[in-house]
Amino acid sequence: MSVIAIDGTFASGKGTLGKALAAHYGFTYLDTGKLYRAVGYAVLQAGDDPAAADKAAQAARELDIEILSDPILKSGDVAVAASKIAVHPEVRAALLEFQRDFARLKPGAVLDGRDIGTVICPNAEVKLYIDAAPEERARRRHAELTGYGEQITFETVLAQLAERDHRDKTRAEAPLIPADDAHLIDTTHLAIEAVLDAAIKIVDAVFSNRS
Ligand code: C5P
Repeated sequence: MSVIAIDGTFASGKGTLGKALAAHYGFTYLDTGKLYRAVGYAVLQAGDDPAAADKAAQAARELDIEILSDPILKSGDVAVAASKIAVHPEVRAALLEFQRDFARLKPGAVLDGRDIGTVICPNAEVKLYIDAAPEERARRRHAELTGYGEQITFETVLAQLAERDHRDKTRAEAPLIPADDAHLIDTTHLAIEAVLDAAIKIVDAVFSNRS
């Protein structure tokens, strides 16, 4: 199977890169963050507490993938709820098979998230870890949210980002951490074309070496 696993911090550019790599290689793309956002959204809609593992796990098991294309999942509140329900092992377990099945799609798949190279697809042919300075990521995210018409200050975005980074990196189950064999790309000072070029060089090198 050909899998490109992309992990990294929030607003690091991994989603943009994932889509572009999938288009370049003719692979199918999955933004796994949307699965967690969809569960977070379902929990908020039901009026439940994202900290309650049982309700969140039930929402994950009953997830209707039709919701994945709904723009409501992009909102800041949903993102915060997503990072809260993502700490529950039961939620992660309920979403595991869907992601692994997706990774088996032919001719190949690109998945981006937090634990793709470490937990979901530890045997992925190529693993990329994408990061950027917090202020730059907050700037990008602030521009995106205000573009959707959300009223939010840069300082609030930066604070939420720090909180989510901390939660993602310190949770006991599947924390955000580069796989030992991941290639690191820092996008702080790079335009998307440069990030894509760097990633294609890495992927081509791996693909040209396979037997
Ligand atoms: O990637 P995105 O920012 O949409 O993800 C929202 C949240 O979902 C993340 O902050 C993280 O807590 C969680 N997530 C995860 N594992 C993934 C993808 C996302 O825990 N593979």
